[in-house]
Amino acid sequence: SLVNGTEIFKAAREGHYAVGAFNTNNLEWTRAILAAGQETNTPILIQTSMGAAKYMGGYELCLNLVEQTVKAMNITVPVIMHLDHGNYEAAKECIEVGYNSVMFDGHDLPFAENLEKTKEIVALAHAKGISVEAEVGSIGGEEDGIVGAGELADVEEAKQLAAAGPDYLAVGIGNIHGVYPANWKGLSFERLEELAAVIKIPLVLHGGSGIPKEQIIKAISMGISKVNVNTECQLVFAKATREYIQAGKDQQGKGFDPRKLFAPGTQAITDLVKERIEWFSTPEVK
Ligand code: G3H
Ligand code: ZN
Repeated sequence: SLVNGTEIFKAAREGHYAVGAFNTNNLEWTRAILAAGQETNTPILIQTSMGAAKYMGGYELCLNLVEQTVKAMNITVPVIMHLDHGNYEAAKECIEVGYNSVMFDGHDLPFAENLEKTKEIVALAHAKGISVEAEVGSIGGEEDGIVGAGELADVEEAKQLAAAGPDYLAVGIGNIHGVYPANWKGLSFERLEELAAVIKIPLVLHGGSGIPKEQIIKAISMGISKVNVNTECQLVFAKATREYIQAGKDQQGKGFDPRKLFAPGTQAITDLVKERIEWFSTPEVK
């Protein structure tokens, strides 16, 4: 069933584990992610970026796709339908359409405006039982047109933004969207410790693709309760599809049939998401 994220992430922060958040782009991605949640018997968050929603045909279509797929697959674990990196207009639209959770990403606005708009989105969303994610500091790199310099979250600003009432807070702690550069310095656990000491709502780690397992587990033990993964799903889908085609399987029988052609990539996403869910809920964390 579709639910908001408030209680699920609160429980994760209290229990020192994290719930995975995975981006969808189409029916195959949606099925692959939901299957992983169901097979691991874990709540799962499925999210669309503004770019993905534009690609698919709008927020209402995205929500309907997830709702109908949950039904058709008999998914019984809690599923949260979330807007990833929304601007003010997108967040408002998703609240109207009935997403369970929205991210208002105001990191590129002057801080006072980020704070003000976060408050407005929180009021609109909470009136409808919808959860809100806010962002302070910026995630480095680029994802779907969202570009960030990668500066660490300012603790004072983070405190003020958390007081604006969001249910979870994305923090810049040296994390980067997309593939990590070879000279990446790793997560800033110093900054995460300072943030987690004063912010008691669940913290969100973006750019989950390519962070070594040990760093993710350490971050979760310190207060990260939601980990976003996108690029890695794209990489494993592309790899599995490439291997299928390079092996000539698309030319055998009716291997070019899209239902066959997309199957290895879809399975690869399910396998990856299941592995990440295991990392995020690993007993080492507890
Ligand atoms: O918002 C989505 C994520 O932060 C995903 O980042 O593509 O680096 O895994 P990633
Ligand atoms: Zn992100």
